[in-house]
Amino acid sequence: MEKFRQEIAKKIAPLLNMSREEARALMEVPPNPAWGDIAIPCFSLAKTLRKAPQAIAADLAKAADLDGLAGSVEAMGGYLNITLEKAAVARHIISGILQGGASFGFTDQGGGKTVVIDFSSPNIAKPFGIGHLRTTVIGHSLSRIYSELGYRAVRVNHLGDWGTQFGKLIVAYKLFAKDDKLIDDPLGTLFKIYVEFHRRAENSPALLEEAREWFRRLEEGDDEARSLWQRFVEVSLKEYQRVYDLLGVEFDYWLGESYYEPLLASTVAAIEAQGLTTISDGAVVVDLADHGMPPCLLRKTDGATLYATRDIAAALYRDKKHRPELMLYVVGQEQTLHFRQVKQVLNLMRSPAGEKMVHVPFGLFKFPEGKMSTRRGNVIFLEDVLTRAVDLAAGVIEAKNPELENQQEIAQHVGVGAVVFADLKHGRIKDVLFDWEEMLNFDGETGPYVQYTHARACSVLRKAALNPALSDEAALTDEYALPLVKLLGEFPQVCARSAAEYEPSVVARYVLDVSSLFNRYYHHVRILGGEAGVTETRLALVLATQRILARGLYLLGLTAVDKM
Ligand code: ARG
Repeated sequence: MEKFRQEIAKKIAPLLNMSREEARALMEVPPNPAWGDIAIPCFSLAKTLRKAPQAIAADLAKAADLDGLAGSVEAMGGYLNITLEKAAVARHIISGILQGGASFGFTDQGGGKTVVIDFSSPNIAKPFGIGHLRTTVIGHSLSRIYSELGYRAVRVNHLGDWGTQFGKLIVAYKLFAKDDKLIDDPLGTLFKIYVEFHRRAENSPALLEEAREWFRRLEEGDDEARSLWQRFVEVSLKEYQRVYDLLGVEFDYWLGESYYEPLLASTVAAIEAQGLTTISDGAVVVDLADHGMPPCLLRKTDGATLYATRDIAAALYRDKKHRPELMLYVVGQEQTLHFRQVKQVLNLMRSPAGEKMVHVPFGLFKFPEGKMSTRRGNVIFLEDVLTRAVDLAAGVIEAKNPELENQQEIAQHVGVGAVVFADLKHGRIKDVLFDWEEMLNFDGETGPYVQYTHARACSVLRKAALNPALSDEAALTDEYALPLVKLLGEFPQVCARSAAEYEPSVVARYVLDVSSLFNRYYHHVRILGGEAGVTETRLALVLATQRILARGLYLLGLTAVDKM
């Protein structure tokens, strides 16, 4: 559709003495589709052209030569309303999708520029809880959407594998755990002893002192501390990998916070050398009072570095290594202050990394049971949630389609897809309330609904005796086909908007809309069995829809199954 808008802008621009971009920027979508596809309001032009808006619109309607683009051009109350030529729209959009292969969302907007996306980044020795679902699926989807637009997306897992909690964990491990416990249920064990440590520490501050001492030893490279830490990391990664496999999520780099450890001394020294630090109660801080924020702590009194210190070092490292255009951090909104502070310190250092850094925040994923906290111990494991969703999906599929082959494999795609979609269909910032039933409803606004619609399109194509072909575009100009055709034609703009807003929900809402228009078409129009030219053309629309749905689902991280 954008091609049409651009072409029309090119023709209209000279009549208004403006650039093509300016003419394009004027265009609106008429509130009533019956008035046309494009509206050009003439009110803002009245002053420079010294004419009434109604007269400008009327003159434009007469002067504009939009043959082959527009079916009708009308002036109406100060607007120029343009209705595109239906058959041209159908031909252009559907043939574009059918020829475009897999990536018709590809507009070379990115031009090979790099965007680094930091996402998922769970904390070692803690269960992969449902709390990390959002960052994982949002980041994964954004990496695919940016790639679709021609960017090079670098996916980084910034594992939380460093910090004072590892001192606590070592103490807890020595007190409460024996090695063999790490074999059966490693994360469960580490998690239990961590909770137990906090319970005991409430009455025994000496434990906290001991934990600090162990973290100090870890930072100094003490052998025993290092090897225990190494084990915690190994067993955790193994468990996380199972979740990533279920979700189909991959990374280009697994670089935990510990990776930046060797760079911290020089990073702090560089900030000090620029005169940006002060000493406060023995700690090294960057005062940010002028920027309306609390100070950014770089080094504690005992010399230990912090989360922020490591993020500053990591940002400088990424900027140097990848020369990115953008660095995204998909992290919950509770860390907003942290990222503002880190960005401000980088800006004060005059590092370009500050400008490039974008925090992409999101709200909570709420279970009916309430918010989860690792310290309190009532954590919901993501793996359990995904497994349960797959079981429920298997039940639904068995009931609906008992003859289906590969039920288990399909149930896996549908169950996981249901959870992922339930997350992504909401704007990031909103809290998501988890609801098992709603999530798996094949008729609701769900992943399974879109997957089912995709499978339906596949089934029509399988049953057809003819091949899809655009032999009679007039067959796509009726009230059921044309809105679907136009919506399919918006796919590249949808991808671009989704990336610009860091919002996979834009793509999620779009595939829901495509699904509902396709289902309406399917119910009202007899696709198979008509005259050959008409049937082939209708099949071309079905094929185009199937491709767009498959691509949209892929961008969200779901699998498009062809039967379910
Ligand atoms: N590990 C952190 C957490 O789970 C998230 C890390 C996000 N990335 C970053 N560069 N700070 O809260």
